[in-house]
Amino acid sequence: MKCLVLGGGGFIGSHLCEGLIHNGHHVRVFEKEGRSKVNLSHLEKEVDWFEGDFLNPEHLKDAVDNMEVIFHLISTTLPKSSNESPVYDISSNVISTLHLLDAAKAADVRKIVFFSSGGTVYGVPQIIPIPEDHPTNPTCSYGIHKLTIEKYLALNYYLHGLDYTIMRVSNPYGERQRPTGSQGAIAVFIYKALKGDKIEIWGDGSAVRDFIHVSDVVTAALKLTQNNVSEKIINIGSGVGLSLNEIIGEIEKVVGYKLNVYYCKSRGFDVPSNILDISRANGVLGWSPCVDFFEGIIKAVDYYKSNFIQISHQF
Ligand SMILES: NC(=O)c1ccc[n+]([C@@H]2O[C@H](COP(=O)([O-])OP(=O)(O)OC[C@H]3O[C@@H](n4cnc5c(N)ncnc54)[C@H](O)[C@@H]3O)[C@@H](O)[C@H]2O)c1
Repeated sequence: MKCLVLGGGGFIGSHLCEGLIHNGHHVRVFEKEGRSKVNLSHLEKEVDWFEGDFLNPEHLKDAVDNMEVIFHLISTTLPKSSNESPVYDISSNVISTLHLLDAAKAADVRKIVFFSSGGTVYGVPQIIPIPEDHPTNPTCSYGIHKLTIEKYLALNYYLHGLDYTIMRVSNPYGERQRPTGSQGAIAVFIYKALKGDKIEIWGDGSAVRDFIHVSDVVTAALKLTQNNVSEKIINIGSGVGLSLNEIIGEIEKVVGYKLNVYYCKSRGFDVPSNILDISRANGVLGWSPCVDFFEGIIKAVDYYKSNFIQISHQF
């Protein structure tokens, strides 16, 4: 299939491109002008790299031309930054996605796979693990923009037959995750551990999250290209909860020394717990995560160790 991966040069996107190429698909990456190609440098010949701005409808029109499936992995904001300017969050993410849907319809694209957020759309959970039909009450604008896009995907399917699947991904971790942002606790903790920096934990470290290795997220996305899936919304997570303090403990076991952790005031939008119910993914995709958490941490630590100098210059 001819696949367009929006944000294909990023963390999840680059792993997805690898998976698609290994499965024989043609991959076009849509990325910001000047974005480093480092994550896909080993596949430079196989990838059709298209530079453009997601906020520019003309660029989207050109990018979707002749494509069959679109994987939408661009978000202009993170949960934290989204609350600083909800106007920017909604205008950049939702309006641009509406332009994308128009371009996709005009180009007769077969399907859109949207990377939504299992960690933010539900808000404070009423039950754990959280099923897809749980109420949605996000505590950040980012969760609202993801849900709004989900609704527009449903509307376009209803009105125009443009097929879609929504992957509500929990907390992915692993190689190539940016270690210097406000998202991706595991990458941040490992990188700081290797640098010998203090690790800041918002709250008392008891917050529980559902961490999933990025390769398991990719296997789920690839299943979507193989199966004819009628379910539109699918949680993708490990289905297992670990507290931030437990994560620190696991990283300490791998690096072999005690980490320098300090605790500060929790952020208002952080929910106390988030563990996804993944039985739907299991049933409709025949998928379940297979990377053991400790093994995943070993791989991630190896990656940040081997790429330490390059990463230090990159960010
Ligand atoms: N990482 C997580 O914890 C997580 C969890 C759930 C869902 N998601 C979603 O998965 C998707 C991918 O996440 P990621 O962690 O790989 O992000 P990432 O930042 O590593 O990758 C996103 C890519 O999008 C590109 N991009 C951003 N703005 C653009 C623009 N205006 N024009 C062109 N390209 C642009 C960036 O250059 C980047 O390479 C996002 O939609 C995110 O919301 C991520």
